[in-house]
Amino acid sequence: MPKFALSGAVRSIEPSPTFEIEAKVKEMQKNGAKVFNLNLGEPDFFTSDNVKSAALIAIVENKTRYTQVKGMPKLLEAVCEKFKSDNGLVYTPKEVIVSNGAKQILYLAIRTVCEVGDEVIVLAPYWVSYPEITKLAGGKPVIVKTDDFRFSAEAIRKAITRKTKAIVINSPNNPTSIVWTKDELEELGKLVMKYRILVISDEIYERFLFDGAKHFSFAAMAPKLKNYTITVNGVSKTYAMTGFRVGYAGGPAYIIEKMADLQSHVSSSICSISQEAAVEALSGGKELVNKMVREFDERRKLVCDDLRNLGVEFIKPEGAYYVFFKVEPHFDSMHFCEILLQDFKVALNPGESFGTPGWVRLSYTVNRDDLKEAMYRIGMMFRRG
Ligand SMILES: Cc1ncc(COP(=O)(O)O)c(C=O)c1O
Repeated sequence: MPKFALSGAVRSIEPSPTFEIEAKVKEMQKNGAKVFNLNLGEPDFFTSDNVKSAALIAIVENKTRYTQVKGMPKLLEAVCEKFKSDNGLVYTPKEVIVSNGAKQILYLAIRTVCEVGDEVIVLAPYWVSYPEITKLAGGKPVIVKTDDFRFSAEAIRKAITRKTKAIVINSPNNPTSIVWTKDELEELGKLVMKYRILVISDEIYERFLFDGAKHFSFAAMAPKLKNYTITVNGVSKTYAMTGFRVGYAGGPAYIIEKMADLQSHVSSSICSISQEAAVEALSGGKELVNKMVREFDERRKLVCDDLRNLGVEFIKPEGAYYVFFKVEPHFDSMHFCEILLQDFKVALNPGESFGTPGWVRLSYTVNRDDLKEAMYRIGMMFRRG
């Protein structure tokens, strides 16, 4: 059998570690093991009935054809309305696009603006896909990390070169759950206007906020910033619709238009049924997300209390639904996660996935009884040493 050489671009990327761990968990479950799965960042709530009905009605009414590549006009209108009412951002339909999840939006955005050799600043700990998407686009991810994992204008300034094209920011953050303050965003705003850098602002966890933390959209921080920003969001997390695969973005029309041209050759339109469901989600109530946030807050406190009692260092989670904690110097983070899964049947995600070895991400997207048991087992692991 002939073996064909693969492209340099795909050879440069690693598979998503989250989905690799997930495959291992599924295998263990298939063999009858009860696994406490705190690996995947997926809400353990069901999509609302009104959204499911919209999808069912779309099928019954034969709305099963290709749609406009950028998205159905009524969904683009709903996205514009959402940006205006939730984020104070006025976009027209020409300035927005929908895609197969925020992940594909990020791919389209970075692929559209990145010339081979361009640098994209990625702040560590980072969501797993930012560096890999940059590499696929022929760009070079430039990783910036600070000791407290918070924003530092100084650290970013040092990383800027003549080749810097864009910076990816993510607040509330996966995996640290840090929420950027208004001051931090404004400071970044001054920096990117000075050096003419595009900001790709991933705001997918905007609704998951705790302890009075507030979310601010980067593009809304100053009137000119809309010209410097692609604002990324999606329905996966807010509406517990991960399987529907709908993400969206707002940005300068000349970039959005080319993202659409790229999408026209990648997937044509996205699923028509998912788009009908997304219209319903974006225009409907926020009861589900409010309910999720209340429940996640209880779980967050539970995890933080247990870690505190164990004397484990962690980043105070202000948003999203993760707790990022430190296992070094007692453990190597990869080894910690491997043994925890093998011996204690608890799945976590090692910091290596996020460019931060020595740390581990816990996603508290399981019911409280399972979470308590998982925390008990994590405690056993720490005590065993
Ligand atoms: C920070 C961040 N951005 C984007 C995504 C992708 O979301 P979607 O399901 O819309 O592709 C995720 C999913 O885990 C995420 O954590």
